[in-house]
Amino acid sequence: MKILIAGGAGYLGSALVPKLLDRGYEVDVVDLFWFGNHLPAETGIIHKDIFDLTEQDLAPYQQVVFLAGLSNDPMAEYSPSENFIFNAAAPAYLAYVAKKAGVKRCVYASSCSVYGYTDNELFDETRPVSSSYPYGISKLQGEQAVMNLMDDSFSVISLRKGTVSGYSPRMRLDLIVNTMFKNGVRNREITVNNPSIWRPIISIEDATNAYIRAIEASEKLSGIFNVASGNYTVGEVGDLVKMAIEEELGISVRLTIHHKKDFRNYKVSIQKAENVLSFHPNHDVKAIVKNLIVNMEKFGDWDNPQYYNIETLKLLSAKNALRTLAEVA
Ligand SMILES: NC(=O)c1ccc[n+]([C@@H]2O[C@H](COP(=O)([O-])OP(=O)(O)OC[C@H]3O[C@@H](n4cnc5c(N)ncnc54)[C@H](O)[C@@H]3O)[C@@H](O)[C@H]2O)c1
Repeated sequence: MKILIAGGAGYLGSALVPKLLDRGYEVDVVDLFWFGNHLPAETGIIHKDIFDLTEQDLAPYQQVVFLAGLSNDPMAEYSPSENFIFNAAAPAYLAYVAKKAGVKRCVYASSCSVYGYTDNELFDETRPVSSSYPYGISKLQGEQAVMNLMDDSFSVISLRKGTVSGYSPRMRLDLIVNTMFKNGVRNREITVNNPSIWRPIISIEDATNAYIRAIEASEKLSGIFNVASGNYTVGEVGDLVKMAIEEELGISVRLTIHHKKDFRNYKVSIQKAENVLSFHPNHDVKAIVKNLIVNMEKFGDWDNPQYYNIETLKLLSAKNALRTLAEVA
């Protein structure tokens, strides 16, 4: 099977593509390469903006996976107008051309952030969504646009992921567990901004496995699925990261607790993904920290702006280079 991964050179894609190649799939990645190229040499590279893909470009693929866009709140808030183009219009356009070209399935990278601020209840996929900030709104718009195209000959699977964490060859240190890990190891201090806020967390291992379950699901299956390794309060994540670093590295780490207001608070049920996709997560926060420790030497240049999406976005925007094709190593 030939698969096109849009935005596949990012954090998730750089961990997913090697797994797909190992399973014998032919994989091409279309990307603007904002964060360089950390993909295996066997990956087919299409250095393009999604908006420049034609029906002809899409014709060779059985499936497309959308992993592109501005992938966090700070990026979305820095440039709300670009955010709505990259996060809402791009997946709509990709799924539209893919369907026209005869592609059989589109897998969409949604986010649990569509749930907004909830009152300590477990949310399944039937519950109302209510985000009121650019990132959450745009992820929902992208999801609605791609789901709308689903029919008997075009399967659409949307994975509403918790915050992903762990090591990827294209590293990010702006994701909750990864940030706490960096601060714990480097500064011997972890800051928790609001200990009572709930966040579903998903390890990069579990997240990439969820994509494999979606790609390999029976042909006609479509739907929206919450996927997470677990629901945690941010205070508990701080405790778990601190404990894991102390146990594994033998250093002591201080926890500093603030009580800042947050506009996201949600916990999700993953029962549907377990029952329908056979998605069974098995990497908790401790396993994520162990995975970071094993790979620590590969991202020891903690301040590299490529590890912080907002820093890279600011650099690209200053050069007016968001849509120009970056030099790829
Ligand atoms: N990382 C998380 O915690 C998380 C959680 C929930 C959902 N998501 C979603 O999952 C997806 C992947 O996240 P990530 O952390 O790997 O993101 P990332 O920022 O690491 O990678 C995004 C990639 O998309 C590329 N890109 C962006 N717009 C493009 C366009 N128009 N054409 C071609 N390439 C383009 C960028 O160059 C980059 O390589 C995103 O859609 C994100 O919103 C991520």
